[in-house]
Amino acid sequence: MARCLYLLWFLFFWFLLCSSTLLKITATEDLSIKKGILKERVRKMFYHAYDNYMAHAFPHDELKPISKTFTDSLSELGNLKLEHLPGNYKGSALTLIESLSSLLILGNNTEFERAVLWLSDNLIFDVDARVNLFECNIRVLGGLGSALVIRQSYIAEDLGRRFLLAFDTPSGVPYAWINLKYGVMENETTETSTSGCGSLILEMGALSRLTGDSRYEASALRALRMIWSMRSPLNLMGTTLDVVSGDWIEHSSGIGAGVDSFYEYLLKAYILFGNEEFWNMFKSAYIAVQKYFRHGPWYHESDMRTGKATYWQLTSLQAFWPGLQILVGDVAAANSSHREFFHVWEKYGVLPERYLLDMGMLHPTERYYPLRPELAESTFYLYQATKDPWYLDVGETIIESLNRYTKVDGGFASIRDVTTMQLEDHQHSFFLSETCKYLYLLFDDSFLANQNYIFTTEGHLLPVRSRWHARLPETYVSTNLTSLKNKHQQYHQESAMTQQICPATNLAQKLESVCHVPDARIDHRCKVNYDCGIDSITCRDRSCSLAGYCGLWSHH
Ligand SMILES: *[C@@H]1O[C@H](CO)[C@@H](O)[C@H](O)[C@H]1NC(C)=O
Ligand SMILES: *[C@@H]1O[C@H](CO)[C@@H](O)[C@H](O)[C@H]1NC(C)=O
Ligand SMILES: *[C@@H]1O[C@H](CO)[C@@H](O)[C@H](O)[C@H]1NC(C)=O
Ligand SMILES: *[C@@H]1O[C@H](CO)[C@@H](O)[C@H](O)[C@H]1NC(C)=O
Repeated sequence: MARCLYLLWFLFFWFLLCSSTLLKITATEDLSIKKGILKERVRKMFYHAYDNYMAHAFPHDELKPISKTFTDSLSELGNLKLEHLPGNYKGSALTLIESLSSLLILGNNTEFERAVLWLSDNLIFDVDARVNLFECNIRVLGGLGSALVIRQSYIAEDLGRRFLLAFDTPSGVPYAWINLKYGVMENETTETSTSGCGSLILEMGALSRLTGDSRYEASALRALRMIWSMRSPLNLMGTTLDVVSGDWIEHSSGIGAGVDSFYEYLLKAYILFGNEEFWNMFKSAYIAVQKYFRHGPWYHESDMRTGKATYWQLTSLQAFWPGLQILVGDVAAANSSHREFFHVWEKYGVLPERYLLDMGMLHPTERYYPLRPELAESTFYLYQATKDPWYLDVGETIIESLNRYTKVDGGFASIRDVTTMQLEDHQHSFFLSETCKYLYLLFDDSFLANQNYIFTTEGHLLPVRSRWHARLPETYVSTNLTSLKNKHQQYHQESAMTQQICPATNLAQKLESVCHVPDARIDHRCKVNYDCGIDSITCRDRSCSLAGYCGLWSHH
């Protein structure tokens, strides 16, 4: 009996001695097993999206996963009113182009080679289709450019040459739209966005470095310098501008739609090309954002002229910001914003397009979730920087939501309304180039082990090479803003937001909602009706009560 007890005590102490080491080993093992399982789930998601696209939509642009058909959507991207749609455009294999760099990361070199070969033989850009320069740049030129770095192929150059025609403007800032076959159309809109003309430098710069033709980089840089020279004394930018007069049209801006990738490209251009000029622009712009837009972990919009808050809204595109903050090293700020975004994801199951922070409610019309990548992207960066396993749980939650709500037999469908989880028959190409890629890299970053890369705003890879850190071409003449102003004084455009055009309630029409609530006063106290702006739900003017509160009081 006593011997037996001794043995038990011995075993007990032995257990105590080993358990601490054992626990550690089990924890690391658990973690790598968990990462392995989740990585395989993302791989399955990618191939479910990819194989269905190849079966039902290729060589058209994007898959309609519910009806298992296709949409030739390149000419519809950014074209909210669906104007000037081409008659006989048959698609450019957009989703295949967008999948190239993801195939590499997943280690499928055979399929990558097969795709590049098909594209070199079949892709033609001499088509009568009006496309958005920004969308076509980040998706098509970016996707092909990324492949071009790895595999010599000159299809990207043909597209780049067509882009150059857009830059022939008095300001040097390119038109937002270009017809691939005929160049800029007659009576083309002269309004473009800050991100539309300020985030071309990575793709066009890379194209110049690869082909030795400096015109692409020179054009993009000239445009970037021009809009940077248009910043306010507070170092703030507006959201839209006129490419002929060089005037701002929309003076309110934030870090979301219409501006987001402008900031992203200043920092990433510095990383890719090593030029201090980009860093100096980024530093000033970043400080201004943190000073005038940030409110705790949230970001609102402000007027570039006064720095005063305008719209208190969370938009799902803003979720990329913590990822950018990781590249700057601002880990704590990134962590706190990312947590708030993730709480909104948890609340609704996915991230709704727009959320009214001041009212604590969803936007009345922008309740969709089109499979956007931004939260997964930031989660990937935060995990890389902190190795905090909590971010793996975030990734797991995102994977579970995507599979539960958006997976259908024929691919992954967008969500039309996060309150009903009603689906929309559209699998956006960025689901393959970004959403799946960032989730995969969260659990397996071995692709990034031997080479430094930066990701374009569409998730395409560009290797960071020291020989690209040479001086930039010095051939550009910067535009004289003063003389441009004198020449085009007659132009004055008003933004839709300034005009307070109300949103279309019919989502099928795809009109952008521009009904916002200007909110100069945080406490909603007012002196005159003008202080109260318009109501975002009814789109009626709000008025100021006798007690000094804004509301929908009837006018008498
Ligand atoms: C590469 O992709 C193709 C098409 O989806 C698939 O048939 C093949 O099994 C994949 N190869 C690897 C190694 O994953
Ligand atoms: C361009 O606009 C002018 C003035 O609005 C109009 O007279 C002309 O027909 C338009 N041209 C085209 C090709 O739409
Ligand atoms: C992120 O925030 C959480 C909660 O506030 C905190 O526990 C954690 O330590 C933070 N991590 C970093 C890297 O700042
Ligand atoms: C820009 O143009 C204005 C008026 O045409 C002129 O006075 C000014 O010197 C010019 N500035 C530069 C930098 O060339």
